[in-house]
Amino acid sequence: MLLDARYEDDGQPMSENQLLDELNILLVAGHETSANALAWAFSLLAHYPEAQRQLRAEIAAQLPGSQLVEFADLPRLPYALQVVQEAMRLYPPAWIMDRVATEADEFRGCLLPKARCFRSISTACTTTLIFGPMPKCFGPSALRRVLCPRRRPTATCPLAAARGCA
Ligand code: HEM
Repeated sequence: MLLDARYEDDGQPMSENQLLDELNILLVAGHETSANALAWAFSLLAHYPEAQRQLRAEIAAQLPGSQLVEFADLPRLPYALQVVQEAMRLYPPAWIMDRVATEADEFRGCLLPKARCFRSISTACTTTLIFGPMPKCFGPSALRRVLCPRRRPTATCPLAAARGCA
């Protein structure tokens, strides 16, 4: 597929280096992150039978007859989404992120000189303040969201706010 791809503007194929970059992204950024997220989600479901039962019930109700899941089906599977998000909150596949300060800055009294490299560690973000009681427990229900009004989409990945995933 990548070998056959052509740029829309000039109809040219990718150079060998561009192909290698794309393959690296698929392998490291794409494959390993998704595989880790799924592995942890299945492990957590095995340890929390009630969550597993609820997920099975949603799938049975929304996808009768063991039909294969299509992209268009996903909005009808909100509990499945919460399972994945909760698994990634507890075991984030991208658990550390590097940044370089483009300007000198300060955060809560901590000085950050220009050009200083710093990191955020997502696993440090399982706090009671953001996630309510028992933040280290697997709780994919809507209840955790209701209990945690301070939760933002970026709560587990603070430095990703300005830069998304492909
Ligand atoms: C569960 C699955 C995934 C997770 C948790 C994840 C996580 C992330 C995070 C946190 C970033 C931002 C890194 C940063 O700002 O330093 C990122 C960037 C990126 N991800 Fe993913 N990712 C996932 C799946 C994928 C897949 C499937 C692809 C491609 C096939 C992909 C390609 C990329 C690329 C190209 C970037 C860099 C974007 C940029 O340069 O702005 N990721 N990902």
